[in-house]
Amino acid sequence: MTQNILKIGILGSGSGTNMQSICDAISAHTLDARIVCVASDVPNAGILDRAKKHGIPCRYIDPAPFKTKLEGRAEDEYIEFLSAYGADVVVLAGFMRIVKKKMLDKYHDRVVNIHPALLPAFPGIAAWKQALEYGVKITGCTVHLVDSGTDTGPIIVQKSVPVLEGDTPDSLHKRIQEQEHKAYPEALQILAAGKWRKEGRRIVTA
Ligand code: GAR
Repeated sequence: MTQNILKIGILGSGSGTNMQSICDAISAHTLDARIVCVASDVPNAGILDRAKKHGIPCRYIDPAPFKTKLEGRAEDEYIEFLSAYGADVVVLAGFMRIVKKKMLDKYHDRVVNIHPALLPAFPGIAAWKQALEYGVKITGCTVHLVDSGTDTGPIIVQKSVPVLEGDTPDSLHKRIQEQEHKAYPEALQILAAGKWRKEGRRIVTA
């Protein structure tokens, strides 16, 4: 029987370790997917180098004129790029911009994000730092569908990480990222398998 392969388009602004974990899961046959394209809003982002190494079509797309969101002409260009490669889902892997209505309408319930905290705690920027400053003893990461709020969409997978005495923002972030690299492939496999539904604020598998 032919398996359905999820076609993933990735958007990222950083070094691309989450993209790497997705590539690794695909190679290990634990994720029935293919990365069809990668785009970045940062010209020299590591994620583009990693994509090139894997032979994945990739491009810097100028996000101007906005600083923190993707809207207008830039949004159109990102959508055209993702469509040209036939992406079924848009995976935000360290993409540091808010995705707006046009993209969310075109890929309804098919835009996925990873956030470095246990949502709904600590949405927004540098969530690991927020958690450390607040003084929580457990934090983690969340993979969720993106809706029109900031880090508010239905939760697919969460993984917890203890905050240790003596943790710095960097040491805590590093341990959270280790869990991100397990959580993202797991969450995408749930979407690839196709047997899921929304139940309140979470995604459940059938
Ligand atoms: C990840 O830690 C991810 O959680 C964070 O950016 C990093 C990207 O790393 N994303 C956010 O903070 C989104 N609000 P990577 O480029 O190595 O995957």
